[in-house]
Amino acid sequence: MILSHIVAASENNVIGTGGDLPWDIPEDMQFFRDKTKGHAMIMGRKTFESFPNQKPLPGRLNVVITRQTDYQRDGIEVVDSLEKAIELCKSRTDQWGDEVFIIGGGEIYKQSLPYVDRVYLTRIFEEFNGDTTYPPLDDAEFEMVADSERTDPVRFSFQVYEKR
Ligand SMILES: NC(=O)c1ccc[n+]([C@@H]2O[C@H](COP(=O)([O-])OP(=O)(O)OC[C@H]3O[C@@H](n4cnc5c(N)ncnc54)[C@H](OP(=O)(O)O)[C@@H]3O)[C@@H](O)[C@H]2O)c1
Repeated sequence: MILSHIVAASENNVIGTGGDLPWDIPEDMQFFRDKTKGHAMIMGRKTFESFPNQKPLPGRLNVVITRQTDYQRDGIEVVDSLEKAIELCKSRTDQWGDEVFIIGGGEIYKQSLPYVDRVYLTRIFEEFNGDTTYPPLDDAEFEMVADSERTDPVRFSFQVYEKR
């Protein structure tokens, strides 16, 4: 199993504000959909609740981490720890493929960074205000293997990092 982060972060590492994304970048949303389609995704409860109508994303295994013992929603798997989320996805790779995506948010990215093999980082070359951040990637631990710049509607780049 390959464990990957997929995240969009500003130059100052902001990823969220008020429970939402601080920007609207259609090409990045499309990139996210294309990458995660057909795969298992792990997310924190707050990221799940940021989805439109709090509905799971179709065509993917939606695994939601919460400490609430009575949390249930249609179409999601609920677990109470990151470790259980990873174990569950590992047991479903036959159906959902070998690459498992951790899709946020800030709390879950920080806790899972030590375990990931790969990071798809959409780096937005602007500073944003926000309340949620992505941890800086250590050069000694992660090597950039792809960097593909775009300019619409802002200057950003699709970067890929692999664990050294
Ligand atoms: N830019 C991006 O790529 C991106 C991607 C995803 C999200 N975001 C943004 O990030 C923000 C949300 O991030 P966030 O850090 O506030 O929340 P989050 O990581 O999505 O979810 C946090 C919640 O997860 C549960 N949780 C966390 N650690 C846990 C553990 N060890 N065991 C059990 N449950 C655990 C708790 O749920 P309970 O409170 O229910 O117990 C906690 O409140 C939003 O603004 C969203 O739009 C941005």
